[in-house]
Amino acid sequence: MYIKSLGLSDYRNYSRKTVNFDRHLNIIVGKNGTGKTNILESIIFVSNTKSFRTNNDRDLIRKGEEFARIDLNTNKDSYRVVINKRNKSLYINNNLINRSSQFIGKVNAILFKPSDLELFTQSPSERRKLLDIEISKISSRYIQSLLNYNSLLKDKNRLLKEEKIDEVLFDVFNESMVPMIKTIIAEREKFFEAINRYINPIYRMISGKQSDIKITYKKCSEIEFVEEELKKSKDRDYYYHYATYGPHHDDYNFNMDGYDINSIASQGQKRMVLIAFKFALVKYVQNETLSTPIVLLDDILSELDKDNQERLLNSIPENTQIIITNTDINNLKIDKEYRLIELKEEENV
Ligand SMILES: Nc1ncnc2c1ncn2[C@@H]1O[C@H](COP(=O)(O)OP(=O)(O)O)[C@@H](O)[C@H]1O
Ligand SMILES: [Mg+2]
Repeated sequence: MYIKSLGLSDYRNYSRKTVNFDRHLNIIVGKNGTGKTNILESIIFVSNTKSFRTNNDRDLIRKGEEFARIDLNTNKDSYRVVINKRNKSLYINNNLINRSSQFIGKVNAILFKPSDLELFTQSPSERRKLLDIEISKISSRYIQSLLNYNSLLKDKNRLLKEEKIDEVLFDVFNESMVPMIKTIIAEREKFFEAINRYINPIYRMISGKQSDIKITYKKCSEIEFVEEELKKSKDRDYYYHYATYGPHHDDYNFNMDGYDINSIASQGQKRMVLIAFKFALVKYVQNETLSTPIVLLDDILSELDKDNQERLLNSIPENTQIIITNTDINNLKIDKEYRLIELKEEENV
């Protein structure tokens, strides 16, 4: 799948803007603050129905306006998101979509931005967020289980805060959670298995180095022990007044040649590992959905030296659409054909 055009109305700094994209390589160039990241953000919004810059959809509405609209046309379908101050409406080919799970992931885009490097040192909950977004794109079973689990977890935690805990209700919550927890763990296992298969060859290709990269999934328990662990956690839950066991505590970490990446890798190596991770995600999604995600690189290339830039561009799968932003086209070494999209400051007024 690829994006043919994007239309923004009263979105961030744009009152009205149309961008046409090339099927393969696109480079958006503009000074700081001209709205490069905003364009990528709007594409990601159509992909996830969430922004990566804010949790408040209102921020996306151009100052002084009532609602924002994103129109995204791919070679197959047209997508529209209308955001007003209270909610948002989603459309595919002009039909209103009521369940966001039927919209999320239809446009499949993967973004890489400099602050992604924080992934290695962030809190587990931030790392889980990324995990959930990526698996949700390819598995509606996962989204459903996760949504149901989180809602039950909220109820269970609320119950645990009560003075006198209704034990029957507590057991009912735990019992209902079992299949959801199993699905979540199973899908996460499958995810990491696949990513680990892809990440090494990709890392070696883009970095030119022979290191071994592996992601370790730190799960709450093996699938066959879910019931048992839930039972075992009961006393602890009562004591701490919250749910101490479950996939809401899962985490994962990155290893390089057997060492934690944070203790061994340089900034530059971490950057390459992260790019390899993202490309592995592309491959994974490609295999699972038989469609190729769109790769968005926000301000990434200029931080790499020319050799790495070249290796990276050459390792992007053949029929992938890619959109790169940069402040200066002269900082890039690109021998391929591309569409140049230039943003000017005067467009913002
Ligand atoms: N809701 C909004 N209304 C109007 N302008 C906005 C809004 N949100 C962000 N902006 C403007 O968008 C610009 C930032 O765009 P951004 O995409 O981050 O630029 P770039 O990536 O090119 O550096 C800033 O000038 C900011 O003031
Ligand atoms: Mg930017």
